Amino acid sequence: MLIAQLTDTHIKPDGRPAYGRVDTLSCLKASINHINTLQPAPDVVLVSGDLVDLGTAEEYTLIRSLLDELQMPWMAVPGNHDNREEMQSSFGDCDWMPESAPFIQYAIDDYPLRLIGLDSLKPNSGGGQICSERCDWLDQTLAQQPDKDTLLFIHHPPFNTGIRHMDQIGLEGSDHLAEVVQRHPQVKMLLCGHVHRSVQTIWKGIHVVIAQSPAHAVTLDISADAESSFVMEPPAVQLIRYENNELVTHLSFVGEFSGPWPFCHPDGSLIN
Ligand SMILES: [Fe+2]
Ligand SMILES: [Fe+2]
Repeated sequence: MLIAQLTDTHIKPDGRPAYGRVDTLSCLKASINHINTLQPAPDVVLVSGDLVDLGTAEEYTLIRSLLDELQMPWMAVPGNHDNREEMQSSFGDCDWMPESAPFIQYAIDDYPLRLIGLDSLKPNSGGGQICSERCDWLDQTLAQQPDKDTLLFIHHPPFNTGIRHMDQIGLEGSDHLAEVVQRHPQVKMLLCGHVHRSVQTIWKGIHVVIAQSPAHAVTLDISADAESSFVMEPPAVQLIRYENNELVTHLSFVGEFSGPWPFCHPDGSLIN
């Protein structure tokens, strides 16, 4: 099974640039084309929050029209730039969207790997939250299928990255989340977004991976007085391969690059 993770697409109304500078619409179109032409093709695409920038219906209509061009199923959870009610309304006909639920959380049992999306949105806050109600739902949902390997995805990472201004808008309730996940060893990995760059750790015994954004990246500045800023690093989507009960992630950069070039001559000897 192959999964593509797309995160932090930050689509603006009318496709306006984000922060006056980032053509997020073109970034999303390029990443969708990239995913659609991958070989082998991913089975499913997970969109891990900050789909749009302002949370308006107009933005969701625009991103929906693009996500529907994906040639495989896709599903999404909200980030801090999203609006839960607008998302529920714009994606209400998607089979993954819970009906009349307070949060956009769901489990997908259609694949060899179980997929569980978590809602970390805390209204009017850059930071996220996983409250007792959401943790209890996760605990009960995981208890339903204790023997099936499971992948969680959520917008806000539960650990500190060292990028100070992002850590200040981290995930409230992460200790409770850890307690729940630790009770269910079938959870193989937790995928996140929010930081717009590739970061990995083992957090309280849980493998957590943040994906690069296909748009702007948060500047890698781990000094104590780091200011909030972004850089236009190479755009990427994350691929997650599940085989023989093991999960492996790869960054797949979006763009035109020289190659592939052979390492060896036709006779098998190394080119040097
Ligand atoms: Fe973001
Ligand atoms: Fe975010």
